[in-house]
Amino acid sequence: MKRRLQALSGCLIIIGSICFSNLAAQTNPVIEKKIDALLRRMTLQEKIGQMNQYNGFWEATGPAPKDGDAKTKYDMLKKGLIGSVLNVNGVQNVRKLQEIAVKETRLGIPLIFGMDVIHGQKTILPIPLAEACSWDLKAIEQSARVAATEASAQGINWTFAPMVDVTRDARWGRVMEGAGEDPYLGSKVGVARVKGFQGTDLAANNTIAACAKHFAGYGFVEAGREYNTVDIGTSTLYNIILPPFKALVDNQVQTVMNAFNVINGIPSTGNVMLQKDILKNKWKFKGFVVSDWASGAEMVQHGFAKDLKDAAAIAVNAGSDMDMESSAYIKHLEELVKSGTVPVKNIDEAVRRILRVKFLLGLFDDPYKYCDEKREKEALYNPAHQSKALEVAKKSIVLLKNEGSLLPLSSQQQKIALIGALANDNNSPLGSWRVCSDNNTAIPVVAGIQQYTRNFTYAKGVTVYQGIHDFIHEANINYTDTTGFQEAIALASQSQVVVMVLGESGFQTGEGRSRTELGLPGLQQQLLERVYAVNKNIVLVLMNGRPLALPWAAAHIPAILECWQLGTQTGNAIAAVLFGSYNPSGKLVMSFPRSVGQVPIYYNHLSTGRPDSVELVFWSHYSDEKNSPLYPFGYGLSYTTFAYSNLKVQSSNPTDVRVSVTVTNNGNRAGEEVVQLYIHDKVASVARPVKELKGFEKITLSPGQSQEVQFRLTDETFGFYNNNGQFVVEPGDFDIMVGTNSASVLSTHYYKN
Ligand code: NOJ
Repeated sequence: MKRRLQALSGCLIIIGSICFSNLAAQTNPVIEKKIDALLRRMTLQEKIGQMNQYNGFWEATGPAPKDGDAKTKYDMLKKGLIGSVLNVNGVQNVRKLQEIAVKETRLGIPLIFGMDVIHGQKTILPIPLAEACSWDLKAIEQSARVAATEASAQGINWTFAPMVDVTRDARWGRVMEGAGEDPYLGSKVGVARVKGFQGTDLAANNTIAACAKHFAGYGFVEAGREYNTVDIGTSTLYNIILPPFKALVDNQVQTVMNAFNVINGIPSTGNVMLQKDILKNKWKFKGFVVSDWASGAEMVQHGFAKDLKDAAAIAVNAGSDMDMESSAYIKHLEELVKSGTVPVKNIDEAVRRILRVKFLLGLFDDPYKYCDEKREKEALYNPAHQSKALEVAKKSIVLLKNEGSLLPLSSQQQKIALIGALANDNNSPLGSWRVCSDNNTAIPVVAGIQQYTRNFTYAKGVTVYQGIHDFIHEANINYTDTTGFQEAIALASQSQVVVMVLGESGFQTGEGRSRTELGLPGLQQQLLERVYAVNKNIVLVLMNGRPLALPWAAAHIPAILECWQLGTQTGNAIAAVLFGSYNPSGKLVMSFPRSVGQVPIYYNHLSTGRPDSVELVFWSHYSDEKNSPLYPFGYGLSYTTFAYSNLKVQSSNPTDVRVSVTVTNNGNRAGEEVVQLYIHDKVASVARPVKELKGFEKITLSPGQSQEVQFRLTDETFGFYNNNGQFVVEPGDFDIMVGTNSASVLSTHYYKN
């Protein structure tokens, strides 16, 4: 459906939402009939029970609930007053609760078991931010497949992932959970992860329902402080924040989680525009919305609901179908329906959506399909999962600097000093948000390196953190104890090359872990500089869950590898890159700032009215720092080099626009390159970013080999959302850019009629 409107600038095409949303899930009439029949048999109380989700009776991923001990919960479960639980893991535990739901409740409706399977169950894959740096959608999908296979074998049938919040502020601890600053890439990565989790048959026993979260705007919390306010303009909402969610809905994601934050004055959980108007009506989302942990109740703190009862009415009327952990629905909905504050049709609608997902998962056919002890044993840490984890871990590593080709190291000649507590750590590399993992199961860098050489000596130098609770109290990080320095410095002075593994502890990112500083925590920067004073041949291996601001290292250290937190296979992956058995190919998905004062910093910004330094003072700049990032979005080196030439746009008609470029490997080893396509809409009815990623292709080239890479540009490429949320395509002049990162491109023009 297209209709043409006249606009001031000429011809404007408005493309109705139908064009891009007709992929949304269709309902199955057989299932709908079963739901009708079930709804007719359910009491109001039983319906509300389906909308109530409780934390399992032990491990919590949020503040401990104030009421509801295990005994009370078991009693509620038997009465059909719980429709879902989260944080219950393991076949035995799941079976025990499922048996109560199926055998002891009046209607025997099975529970759906939710869990934060964010980057793996037992086999831990790289943190999502790292994995996105692979730009390898197949590998990302397979990584989610590994996670789903292990989680489903432990009784889980629903993951609270992927997080598709676009993130521009490295101070926010949850940047580690997403795919970075770009909505186009974020959509592709999110869809790949949904495919991996949900597979092609949701009713199979090794696929699980995915959840697009956090709807919406949570990635834009002010000042990067967790749970803070979000206040954003309509253009950012429609063009940056919402597209990944829409892409996931179009690709059948079964559930959506709303968010803790207030967005433009309205809490997400009580947001009619987001949940009803956009998600359910415009996008035709057929699954259900779950609240975030007690986000319903938190509307009272936000000053949006009078009390818990008011919060329940606001949330359900706004389209929040399942209440996670605030007990608002179970305590108050019955009364609210009876008084007419909540129409019963809103309850029926919510329950229908929840039951629909349970039917699609096949839980009514076999509630114990995820409960097979034999499968559980075989799946966890399965060798096939290890090789997939290693594959994606290698691809996630980003080579930031390699002066004088210091890397790769030779396993023969060099005497290596390996320094840094993180090098010998088998826990931190698992990262944050790994709820079901076993502690200390990562292969540390020390062990990885041993496979390539014995000619190295290790010294800790300085701890990143001490004691079990340090991940909560960052203040406990070692800021004073330099006793390990001497050993590390002496070792460095006697070695030919120094590998320093520095960064953040695994729990310094994730929920509730915002930071105001983006340097190396504790004494690590000091140690780095002291070691550099005796040996400049340093390879800095960074392990962190967010972009860091490391201008000193970027200026002085010859080789820097961004290795993030790579999960179980960390040591093997890092060693493979250090010794060149894998040629790094990752590209950054968030800009690295020079200083925390530049944050939020992102490549797809608008132009200011004074972008250029025509004179000294009155233009858009800082007086003490450059505007540009330390490392831009899309940046990452290889052990080989690639040349770009021959950028062309060819168009036989407006619906067939093709861009081609030739990429040549002009180095002396085979390598992978992520070829990136950006556009700039030069004049538009709503100002457009200076660059927007609109396509990418990961290719492999042997030395001397050239390849022509082609991109097809459609209306979807050229269009954008106006401030009414309509997708528009305007004629006009576009810069078309292709290159190796967002700051290094070839450029040409295209006039779109
Ligand atoms: C709160 C987090 O914001 C959310 O992402 C997570 O899924 C829930 N807790 C459940 O653990």
